[in-house]
This record gives sequence, C-alpha cells and structure tokens, in this order.
Amino acid sequence: MMQESIAALTAEITKAELNNPAELDAFRINYLGRKGRLADLFDQLKTVPAEEKRAVGQQLNALKQQAQARFDEAQQAAEAAADNAPANPDFDYTLPVVPHALGTRHPLSLVREEMLRVFARIGFAVAEGPEIEDDWHNFTALNFPENHPARDMQDTFFVAGEGGGMVSSGVTSESETPKPHLLRTHTSTVQVRVMETEPLPIRRVMPGRVFRNEAISARAHMMFHQVEGIFIDEGVSFADLKQTVYYFVQELFGQDINIRFRPSFFPFTEPSAEIDITCLICKGAGCNICKYSGWVEIGGCGMVDPAVLENAKIDPEKYSGYAWGMGIERIAMLKYQIKDLRLFTENDLRFLRQFEAL
Ligand code: DAH
Repeated sequence: MMQESIAALTAEITKAELNNPAELDAFRINYLGRKGRLADLFDQLKTVPAEEKRAVGQQLNALKQQAQARFDEAQQAAEAAADNAPANPDFDYTLPVVPHALGTRHPLSLVREEMLRVFARIGFAVAEGPEIEDDWHNFTALNFPENHPARDMQDTFFVAGEGGGMVSSGVTSESETPKPHLLRTHTSTVQVRVMETEPLPIRRVMPGRVFRNEAISARAHMMFHQVEGIFIDEGVSFADLKQTVYYFVQELFGQDINIRFRPSFFPFTEPSAEIDITCLICKGAGCNICKYSGWVEIGGCGMVDPAVLENAKIDPEKYSGYAWGMGIERIAMLKYQIKDLRLFTENDLRFLRQFEAL
C-alpha cells in the first residue's frame, strides 16, 4: 500500500511541469508544503509495520530530496531567464541598428594642436589672452603710432559701452579721451601681456581667435585664428628666428618644402618679414590660390622692435627677441587642400566628417 503510494508520487514528481511561476508554486504547495503529498506520506509512516519502517522512511527521504532538487533547479532556471528577459517583449530585435554617430575633431583644432606640439618640442609653452582688448595691448604698446594708417589696415571692431564706450563723457582734453575697447585684431596682444607680466627669458606660443571687419568670402573672414610666438633673451638674433621657422615648417609640411622670408613691415618688429612656403595646392606650379606665384604666405615675423620692449619695461640694450604670427586657417587650408575659408565656420557635417574621429 505504502510502496504503491511512493511509486505513484515518484512518477508524478518526475513528470511534473515546472515551466512557469504558476507551475513552480503549484509544485511547491502540492509536494513540498507542510500539507503537501510528501508530508502526508510521512504522516502515514506510523501505520507502516515496524520492520519496514526504516526502509520506507529512507525511500520517503530520498523522494523528498529528489523533489526539492527538481524544484530548486527549475526555480534557478526561471530566475536566470527573468534576468535576460527583454524589457519590452514587443520590441523587434531584428530591426537594423541606428548607427552611433561619433563626432570628429574640427580641422582648426587639429592644426592648432599640431602647431602647439611642434613648438612645445623646442620649449615654447602656451599663453592666452582676452579676445576683448584695450587699445594699449592691440596697438599702442605694439608701436602703432596714434592716427597711423597701420591702425586702419586692421579693420577693427570696436566695442561700445562700459569702460570702452565710444563716446567720451566729460573728458576735456583730446589726449585723455578714453579709447574704446575692441575685439583683438591679432594675437600680438598676448605678446604684450606676456612681456609685461612674465620673468625673462620669455618663450611662449599664443593661440587665439582674432577679429577684423572684413566681408566674408572664400579668402577672407571677420573671425579667424592665429598662433603667435615670442622669444626674448640676451643675444637673440634673426638667425635664431629663421631656424625656428625652418624647423616649424619642416615639422609640419615635411623636409621638401621651400621657405622664403620676404621683407615686410610691422610696427612692432624691425626688421620684419613675411613667411612664404611652396604652394601645396599646385606644388609651386602656380594656381589661383597662390595667385600663380607658386608661393603662399603663412604668417609674419621679425625682431621685436626695441620700442615694444621698452613699452613692456624690458631693457632693449640687454635683451632682444623675435616674434611671429601665423594664421591657423591658412595652414589648415594648405594641409587639407581646403579652398574656401567659409567651410570652417559653416558646420556642414559633410565637411566636418572628413576629419579625424574623436
Ligand atoms: N600680428 C600680425 C598680423 O596679424 C602678424 C605678425 C607679424 C605677428 C609679425 C608677429 C610678428 O608677432 O612679429 O598680421
């Protein structure tokens, strides 16, 4: 009698379905619970003749263990399945993925950083200055005489309002008229700031954004970028300037490039030169970018004018130095064969995506 009940229950327990929470619950209550079928059979043990009790007891214990093991295993499987279950069962996992659009670095950032890296290798550390400047740092300290036409050359944007108001208020003498603040027309402003504040010798590169009141076209913009440089120490000569420029241009464009210093004028350097390199668009053959000369200008340079050193309270008898200013857009155009300045600011993704990914 008891043997038959055990055999029947064993068969049932082995076959029971345990595929979902409801079946798991039913199994637990039916077979393992305090009022379940197994507990029932354990209760009936007392009716079993004494000589069989031990054997039957062992059978019942084995069955109980077997039932518990099945239950535990099924419950673990159900938990694991729940962990992996989709959050939204209606979501169609066969849909094509939306590509994850990573940004790219702006060509001007790439070139700016490359330029700074090249100068860093020969000891030039970075300095920065404000974009809204005063007349002193943009012009006067840089030896632009009052009313000198060189000031007009720069097509300056003036800033009206507090401190830099265009209107002189209650000031009587002409010379005391406060000068309006302005958007810096070149990064040479930062040279002055560095010379005024830093101990000698000075060896700095100064990247930044500059502004000029120009009509926007393929070749001109009212906002562009420069990398300025300055080196001041005892006994610095034009030969040092030339070597620095040669080194820089060859690092950036390779050994084969031709470099030429063309005499020029800047109020803040004497002598002054413009730096020309082989036009990389036509490789020197002549094209509309280099105006069929085979050369393109990448910046200006020169020996810091003694008057500029004096304005910054540096003794020109003891110290000399060189400086340069180069256009980042111009260099980027040559490097990447970009023929229109406006592309840098229009943020057309078809243009921007061509550069190094982030
Ligand atoms: N500031 C000049 C410009 O924007 C470029 C320049 C020329 C900078 C000669 C210099 C320099 O430091 O020495 O056109």
